[in-house]
Amino acid sequence: MTPMEFPKTVKLRSGKEIILRPMESGDEAALLHFFQSVPAEDRMFFRDDVTNPAVIRRWARTIDYERMIPLLAFDGDRVVADASLHRQASSWSPHVGEIRVSVATDCRGQGLGTALAREIFHLALSLKLEKVMAQMMSCQNAAMAVFVSLGFTQEAVLKSYVRDQRGAKHDLIIMMQDVEDFWKHMEDAIAESHRDSSGDYRVS
Ligand SMILES: CC(C)(COP(=O)(O)OP(=O)(O)OC[C@H]1O[C@@H](n2cnc3c(N)ncnc32)[C@H](O)[C@@H]1OP(=O)(O)O)[C@@H](O)C(=O)NCCC(=O)NCCS
Repeated sequence: MTPMEFPKTVKLRSGKEIILRPMESGDEAALLHFFQSVPAEDRMFFRDDVTNPAVIRRWARTIDYERMIPLLAFDGDRVVADASLHRQASSWSPHVGEIRVSVATDCRGQGLGTALAREIFHLALSLKLEKVMAQMMSCQNAAMAVFVSLGFTQEAVLKSYVRDQRGAKHDLIIMMQDVEDFWKHMEDAIAESHRDSSGDYRVS
C-alpha cells in the first residue's frame, strides 16, 4: 500500500468523532458485527453473504492491498462503515478502480460516506488510477444519489444482469468518475469543510 497518514479523524455533523484506517486482520470480529447489523434490505445487494463468519474470516486472512484496499471507520471499538478500492493491475483496465461503500444506518446522512469516498479518491490518485467506477442495482436510489453528489455519471445499464441475495433480477448501473475531475468537483465542498490544525476532517 502507498504511504498514507492513517489513522485519520472525521468529525461528523453530529459532532461525533470517527477514526478511519485500513482494515487489519485483527478487525475480523468487529467487521463481522458491523455487517451483521446492516439491515437485510441493504445486505440484499451485497455480492457475498457478509453475515457468514467464514466469509469475513477469509477477507481478514487474505488482505492483499494490491488487489483491494479496505478502509474501516470506527466509533470507539465499533466499526460504523466500510469502504474499499478494488483494482486489477493485470487486466484490460489497470487504470480503473472500483469503489464500494457501506455506512451503518445510524451514521448515514452525516457526511461519512462522502469522507470515505474522498479517502478512496486520495488512494486512487496516489496509485495513479484514472477512473473510479461504482456499481449498483437500479433500485439503490440512495446510493445513486450519493454517487451523483460526488460527480459520478451513469455510463451503462446492463439489463437484468444481477441477482440480489433473494434471487430477484435487477438492472446493473455502472457509474464512473475521473480521478482528476473528482477533485475539481469536490473543490467547493472541501473549501466548505473545515480542516483543523492536525489536518483531520471536519464534515460541514
Ligand atoms: C450509500 C451510502 C454509503 C451513503 O453514505 P452516507 O454516509 O449516508 O452519505 P453522505 O452522508 O456522505 O451523503 C452524501 C450525499 O448523498 C446524498 N444522499 C445521501 N443519502 C441519500 C438518500 N437516502 N437519498 C438521497 N440522497 C442521499 C446527499 O446529497 C448527500 O449529501 P448532503 O448530505 O450534503 O446533502 C449509505 O447510504 C449506505 O451504506 N447504503 C447502503 C450500501 C450502498 O448502497 N452502497 C453503495 C453501493 S457501493
